[in-house]
Amino acid sequence: MNEVGAHESKLYSDLAPLYDKIFGKIFYTRLRFVIEDLDIPHAASVLEVGVGTGTSFPAYPHHCDVTGIDLAPPMLARARAKIRKNGWNHLKVLKMDALHLEFPDNAFDYVMAFHVVSVVPDPIRMIVEAKRVCRPGGRIVIVNHFTSRFPILGHLTEALDPVTRRLGWRTNLRLEPFVRATQLTIDRVYKISKLSLYTVLVGRNEKNTYPGGSVKTQPLGLDAKENPRRF
Ligand SMILES: C[S@@+](CC[C@H](N)C(=O)[O-])C[C@H]1O[C@@H](n2cnc3c(N)ncnc32)[C@H](O)[C@@H]1O
Repeated sequence: MNEVGAHESKLYSDLAPLYDKIFGKIFYTRLRFVIEDLDIPHAASVLEVGVGTGTSFPAYPHHCDVTGIDLAPPMLARARAKIRKNGWNHLKVLKMDALHLEFPDNAFDYVMAFHVVSVVPDPIRMIVEAKRVCRPGGRIVIVNHFTSRFPILGHLTEALDPVTRRLGWRTNLRLEPFVRATQLTIDRVYKISKLSLYTVLVGRNEKNTYPGGSVKTQPLGLDAKENPRRF
């Protein structure tokens, strides 16, 4: 395993004792919706990168096989305790860097990245790794905050980036350039509610995707209905 000195997991090591109390309930509501909506089939193999304390765990159907990875040992310790306490045989966690996954190519049917794209130092590299370990035609599912497209709000959050970056996350990630740079093929983009700060991207893994990435359909997108986007 690579030794990683990344600061991005330091914050979460410090936060681990409070993480579930602060974020657990809000994050879980969102993740339960996203995971249930995927209707994950029997025996599917799922990788969740940056799994943290395992906020999402209760939402996974017991008929799939889930591996969570994270860099912060105190977060992983909490995830492990939940697995033990609930006797969840379909779940396991490992300490690993999302930027250097130690899995063979095409190992998973689904790769999930929940609230982690803006935390890792190199989001593009993370998606390159996700695509590598996801089988062709598999799903790459991302939940993240992206900088608002409303000019004033967008510039304001971008202006905060140097501050939040010191703490361990970025606020200058814009959706369209992210999709273009990762060459993701996005089948659906939506928000759980109109006011949600978080966007859900459901991508399909095409190993040799179109240059620039693409969005195929956007059935649930509030934005999408008003303003269909092509990346
Ligand atoms: C905001 S938390 C999200 C945790 C969980 N996905 C959730 O939704 O509650 C971000 C997580 O990403 C982890 N992380 C940061 N950089 C990472 C990396 N390079 N590889 C793996 N995990 C990383 C942090 O340790 C932290 O647990």
